[in-house]
Amino acid sequence: MTKGVGKTGVVGLLEGAKPGPTLLLRFDMDALPINEDTGAEYASLNQGIMHACGHDGHTSIGLTVAKILNAHKNELAGTIKFCFQPSEEGSNGEEIGGAEMMMKDGVLEGPKVDMTLSMHLWNEKPLGWVHVAKGPVMAGAEEFKIKIIGKGGHGAIPNLAIDPVVCAAQIISAAQSIVSRNVGPLETAVVSFTIVKGGTAFNVIPQEVMMEGTIRTFDPQVRNKVVNRFEEIVKGVASAMGCQAEVNVKQLTPSLINTEHVTATVQESARRVLPQANHDNTPYLTMGAEDMAYIQSKVDGCYFFIGSANTEKHLDYGHHHPKFDFDEQALISGAALMAAAAADILK
Ligand code: NI
Repeated sequence: MTKGVGKTGVVGLLEGAKPGPTLLLRFDMDALPINEDTGAEYASLNQGIMHACGHDGHTSIGLTVAKILNAHKNELAGTIKFCFQPSEEGSNGEEIGGAEMMMKDGVLEGPKVDMTLSMHLWNEKPLGWVHVAKGPVMAGAEEFKIKIIGKGGHGAIPNLAIDPVVCAAQIISAAQSIVSRNVGPLETAVVSFTIVKGGTAFNVIPQEVMMEGTIRTFDPQVRNKVVNRFEEIVKGVASAMGCQAEVNVKQLTPSLINTEHVTATVQESARRVLPQANHDNTPYLTMGAEDMAYIQSKVDGCYFFIGSANTEKHLDYGHHHPKFDFDEQALISGAALMAAAAADILK
């Protein structure tokens, strides 16, 4: 076992009896800055910090899977790398998030990782729902920052100024045409302006306006098209309005895409070990982002969801809610499927 991979990450190796590929199983461990309001006997003891996304459940599943596979290591052809990852929810003040930090510390090397599996307990769906699908499952996220530079002046004499406020308004309007006119009708993208800042007084045309927001996409080609159009529109409209524009689009996470062959194996394992489950292999896309996408952009893999809500037991609050909690039966399904799929891949 190696500690301190990506600051507080932990990596464990399990070697099978026979040689074969290396499979990385990733379980995120981090909590969120939320005051827990579940009243559960196992509620957080730390004020202002809570496991509001179910990553404590993922950690439990990971430890259980390690125990199960260790008991069956004679049947495994290959190596399993157990990866317990910090900071999935955000970079926690660091430059990069947990997956990237662990990659920087070499989690994909020594031995070199060939495939990967990971999962999320999912309170948007009831207990018994299992989702294993090929293709994109979580969106890629970009953060953009724009500075529109005009020429400040008196609000009553706009002809002597170059108004960055009017320019910003035109840019916001023009950017709406990216999703409606440049992205195909069956493709998916979101462009949202979420911060607009400018001005100091009612009678002053400001010198600058700052804007921020986010772009979300699934398909990397759509992502490139949207980002290129976005930059063209911001610069082109600013130029037409006599302003200058600085645009910075920063990729936060690529989209999370499941590889066909690994996913097919997990689907078979799911049908075998969870025969009573509601197996959903149709696209179920969420616009949320997941930093496992960094690992899966380098290595073939499958990320699956296990339904964990139970309305009768009031365990159906959404992820990141102060009352979030899941039905622990989902831990059994999660561990069973992860262990079976890992064993099937290294058969
Ligand atoms: Ni999460």
